[in-house]
Amino acid sequence: MSLARDLEALAIDIAQDAGALARMRRQEGVAIAATKSALADIVTLADREVEALIRARLAEARPEDGFLGEETGAERGTSDVTWVVDPIDGTVNYAYGMPQYAVSIAAVIGEPVAGQWEAISAAVYAPALGEVFHAARGAGAWLGDQQLAVNAEVTPAGGLLATGFGYDPATHAGDLARVARVMPMARDLRRGGSAALDLAYVAAGRLDGYFERGLAPWDHAAGALLVAEAGGECTFIAGDDTNPRPLIVASSPSIFERLLQLSLDD
Ligand code: IPD
Ligand code: CA
Repeated sequence: MSLARDLEALAIDIAQDAGALARMRRQEGVAIAATKSALADIVTLADREVEALIRARLAEARPEDGFLGEETGAERGTSDVTWVVDPIDGTVNYAYGMPQYAVSIAAVIGEPVAGQWEAISAAVYAPALGEVFHAARGAGAWLGDQQLAVNAEVTPAGGLLATGFGYDPATHAGDLARVARVMPMARDLRRGGSAALDLAYVAAGRLDGYFERGLAPWDHAAGALLVAEAGGECTFIAGDDTNPRPLIVASSPSIFERLLQLSLDD
């Protein structure tokens, strides 16, 4: 098996154990441990415990690899591989008891910086929904044992699109203006609450496209590979001095150029 396939299998295995722990903690009741970048940006004890499990399992299996996680930060490795991990993507859904949350694990090679790395393996597991999405570079994207493909064509009614909003209220006006620009090409809009699952759903053809400004690297590392391996387009535009919030746009190729143009700020 290739390195990408080996790491995909490891990511699936660890994501399933991590997801089972998250789900068990959810059933026991969830306590918010702290707020982070903004009042709306929360972390639960489960986020931390789940990331600790993932980090320990990776350190045991692949001690030479680097790590970049939402809750415990970055550590360089001595191999070319870095694991980019979101223990619970969709934390607000999780805290409110909504099932749309997922463990997201990606193996990337090269510089461990979004936009510079190459993702080679990915697993996105939604334990409350019982779905594991996974991919390896060059080997396709899968939901369990079913191969995924993005929608080839978008109906005349427009695309079913999704987006997300930043936690900082100061970003809401810009995000809503982007929604207003994109709506003419949408049949409807979803705000699922988990970027990793939004991207997985584009890969699965459950959505035609997805756009969001301000994602953190662990939100999109695995999902972007799912989209690419399902035949979709997924682009990451790093933030700059004018707009420090990076932009992610993912969709079926048929609507990608238009969605990208409308998602860019004027
Ligand atoms: C968030 C989710 C959400 C997106 C936010 C992310 P978290 O991640 O992916 O859908 O809109 O930008 O921060 O905080 O639940 O891990
Ligand atoms: Ca996240």
